[in-house]
Amino acid sequence: MDNRTVAIICHGGAGTITEKEDYARGLSEAIEEGYRLLRQGAPALEAVLRAVVMLEDNPVFNAGTGSSLTIDEVAEMDAGIMTQHGRFGGVICIRNVKNPVLVAEKVMTETDHLILAGDGAIRFARSMGFEDYNPVTEKAKRRLMELRQNGSKFFPRLNQRLGITEQKSGTVGAVAIDRNGNIVAATSSGGIAGRMTGRVGDSGIPGAGVFASPAGGVSCTGHGEEILRMLLARDIGERMKTLPAQTAVTLALSEAKRKKVLCGAIAIDARGGIGYGYTSPDMAYGYKAADRLFLFTDSRK
Ligand code: GLY
Repeated sequence: MDNRTVAIICHGGAGTITEKEDYARGLSEAIEEGYRLLRQGAPALEAVLRAVVMLEDNPVFNAGTGSSLTIDEVAEMDAGIMTQHGRFGGVICIRNVKNPVLVAEKVMTETDHLILAGDGAIRFARSMGFEDYNPVTEKAKRRLMELRQNGSKFFPRLNQRLGITEQKSGTVGAVAIDRNGNIVAATSSGGIAGRMTGRVGDSGIPGAGVFASPAGGVSCTGHGEEILRMLLARDIGERMKTLPAQTAVTLALSEAKRKKVLCGAIAIDARGGIGYGYTSPDMAYGYKAADRLFLFTDSRK
């Protein structure tokens, strides 16, 4: 493995993307920074964390600052990170932190556990020095208000009860391979707007929204309940044992499409091969490999 084969791919969520230029700009900044670190010899872990933190800090994306709100107007966030060696850290329904992915990484490196949830996750974050932070934006509040008026495809029973008709999903994620061939994947999400408080999505669950093994790394986005049912990231990871990343993603997503699941995924295999795909109208994604940047706005599906 040498500099020609370091690579990073990021996504900024699957769904219908109206602010394409904002998404593309945010993605390109995160990808360029992650790639710069990889080219300098930084480990994949550092590059992935840096890229995801940049996406979490950008209120355009549904993760960290700008996270979608629950029906009770609370920002509960999920994040997970996994290395090719099977090390994993996750946080579920964490509130009042700026960067859930950094707390997830501390769960991986500083505890005997894989996942911390709710109040326990927040207490742990504080013990690690993460300060109190309010990730709620006016835009997220407006989005919830619009939802209350309009409705949803994701949670029909909840919507029926509350009279809601449409929801937006989104997530951010990154996968990188470094010059030593180490692969790391991470996913961070503000969840789906208008969900019940306490709802757990796919992003902080290994094998669902994030997965890595010696065969490759995967980050998923989309309808969390269905991604959990399919264990989509694990499915793609298993396929990469014998197939290149792009074929693995395409095959797994054709199954998702058949089941009418709205989702997307990005992946990198052990050779540095890139894979991406989505069943939704759009997915914001981009990657850099062999010193060339590609963004989803460069070509249409
Ligand atoms: N994929 C993000 C979520 O459903 O929470």
